[in-house]
Amino acid sequence: MKKKFRRIALGIDIGGSGIKGAPVDLKTGMFTEDRVRIPTPENASPDTIANVVKEIVDSFDLPDDVPVGISFPAPILRGVVPMIANLSQEWTGIHADELFFKKLKRPVTVLNDADAAGYAEVHFGAAHGNPATVLVLTLGTGIGSALVSAGTLVPNTEMGHIVLPRGIEAEHFASSGVFEREELSFEEWAGRLQEVFSYLEMLFSPDLFIIGGGISKKYKKYVPLISTNAPIIPAELRNGAGIVGAALMAYQENKKADKLA
Ligand code: BGC
Repeated sequence: MKKKFRRIALGIDIGGSGIKGAPVDLKTGMFTEDRVRIPTPENASPDTIANVVKEIVDSFDLPDDVPVGISFPAPILRGVVPMIANLSQEWTGIHADELFFKKLKRPVTVLNDADAAGYAEVHFGAAHGNPATVLVLTLGTGIGSALVSAGTLVPNTEMGHIVLPRGIEAEHFASSGVFEREELSFEEWAGRLQEVFSYLEMLFSPDLFIIGGGISKKYKKYVPLISTNAPIIPAELRNGAGIVGAALMAYQENKKADKLA
């Protein structure tokens, strides 16, 4: 008999300052319960982070077969973290899928945070139904990127680490973390973002830029100061995009695995 799938998955977003989670209804892309947030412990080991994730998962009363998607701030290659910029270096080389699966004892899918956000925007948000090439940039502690063309995601693009013509990595120059740390004005920050957008536009010629991350809420203060050929619009799902994208990916991967079994 065909197994009946609930169209629900739990999304978890691991960020530099907070770890957040909520169950997501994948028909609508909406949370089915209020989001739970726990501050990210500083310089925490992978095991400590996995315990926080477990605490969030356990705070929801969900059946054991509901899959968990985890949005993680590093590239994820077949479940492994090849390098990491903004959490403990202990993550390098760790098989994240296995670590979380052992802790949670549920189907788990781990993916890059910007990819999760981009995937969510394509399915439920600002890029929904857009057949063009869309470049999503998340502005947070670092700069994340998701490149989506005709609805297909090219994972792990890592554009925040592109070295700008002035000789500095994009995320060391223009992330919202830098904006806060260096107490830049919006005008100064827009000037820096201009260099990032112009360079990425020259390299990838997207038809549309979407900016995500908490600071995308204030886009009116800096986006009008940046000039590009492609329009720049804010993410629609804002802070929820990582959770929704991770939940959707976990749901789809789990369904695929079930078909193959
Ligand atoms: C990481 C990316 C991540 C981005 C945003 C970068 O430092 O290398 O994988 O998407 O930060 O968190």
